[in-house]
Amino acid sequence: MNHFIWRKGVLHAEGVPLPAIAESVGTPTYVYSAATLTRHFRVVSEAFGATPHLICYSVKANSNLAILRLFAGLGGGFDIVSGGELARVKQAGGAAEKTVFAGVGKTQEEMEAALAAGILLFNVESAEELDALDAVGRRLGRRAPFALRVNPDVDARTHRYISTGLKTSKFGVPFEEAVALYTRAKKLKGVRAAGLDCHIGSQLTQASPMRAALTKVAGLYTELKAAGHPLAYLDVGGGLGITYTDETPPSPEEYARTVLDATKGTGAHLVLEPGRALVGNAGVLLTRVLYRKKTPAKHFVVVDAGMNDLIRPALYEAHHGFQPLVKRRGKAVEVDVVGPVCESTDVLAKARSLVLPQAGELYAFMSAGAYGMSMASNYNSRPRPAEVMVDGEAWRVVRERERIEDLWRGERA
Ligand code: LLP
Repeated sequence: MNHFIWRKGVLHAEGVPLPAIAESVGTPTYVYSAATLTRHFRVVSEAFGATPHLICYSVKANSNLAILRLFAGLGGGFDIVSGGELARVKQAGGAAEKTVFAGVGKTQEEMEAALAAGILLFNVESAEELDALDAVGRRLGRRAPFALRVNPDVDARTHRYISTGLKTSKFGVPFEEAVALYTRAKKLKGVRAAGLDCHIGSQLTQASPMRAALTKVAGLYTELKAAGHPLAYLDVGGGLGITYTDETPPSPEEYARTVLDATKGTGAHLVLEPGRALVGNAGVLLTRVLYRKKTPAKHFVVVDAGMNDLIRPALYEAHHGFQPLVKRRGKAVEVDVVGPVCESTDVLAKARSLVLPQAGELYAFMSAGAYGMSMASNYNSRPRPAEVMVDGEAWRVVRERERIEDLWRGERA
């Protein structure tokens, strides 16, 4: 459920008509709904009931400070993958002691900053990384708390670009090598085993791969505990999918039931790393129609948002709903909605049946809160969009639109 709703033919975010934001801030602009963000966080957390759990919002999905601040205020922790994300969490007032750090290529500088900040867990992805973390721990005179991210070799059945749990993936430590690594880690003075971690992919729409992976990982957790490793946290990763068109991902309740069933009896404190499920349907990207163009083959609608603003359609063949901000009547035609970027892949919505949009009209790409702005770039020297947070009847700019002079900040001619 989200708070982007039609009122008298006008698309609103909560109590605010979206055309008002577009007229005031310009386009393209990302708009987020605080009520939706809050609701999603609460629904996921409540689904886990009394089982000890920590929601570590996956910052990469959308790293705007206002969103981080909102989740921190709800008691959330964070899943980070870089020193930059750690700095954002701190800047937003997030708690380091509720932060977990994943990624196959953490540098020693990043590890040092995270250890000094006092993060909850390093999710270690290789034997060499464990040695590097040990060196950092010894240098700082501390034991860095770690969980091994194991690769359970389970097919997540999602787009191949966002699947991470197969043997052929760069992520995690092979499942079979985990016990030996924990045993070796016992001798290291700069690290301390605190948990076990896995993540099999993103936009998961079926419960069965989650169940298969977590059952395997929970078995390993129990085995490691029995062998005397003082684990306390079982990090089940993120990945819960959302509805973009007609997908039917598990509800938060079904998701929680799957996780709780698979991990039953471990006694572990669960760590969850949802990204998309919290923010995906809490954001839209507003855009204005520039031109129409009819070729013998097609109707094209050219809008002022491009693949640099929202790369998901180009990169993953992703589908985002495309809706007028003011409802229109008329005969529908099939159109391709394209951006201004000089790439054939700059098609944001393909073969959509729409009342032919007119130049100047405002539209929204739906479900754009996750991996939208956080993956935006300056390709074609296009300033990145503004971001707006709506809260009830109020709204505010939470990131200014980049200015032209921002494009060459740090450059020398
Ligand atoms: N934890 C780990 C270790 C991850 O690698 C990810 C996402 C998450 C949590 C959060 O996953 P989520 O709950 O959002 O599915 N850019 C792609 C998605 C890449 C996901 C990368 N890892 C997209 O736009 O679909």
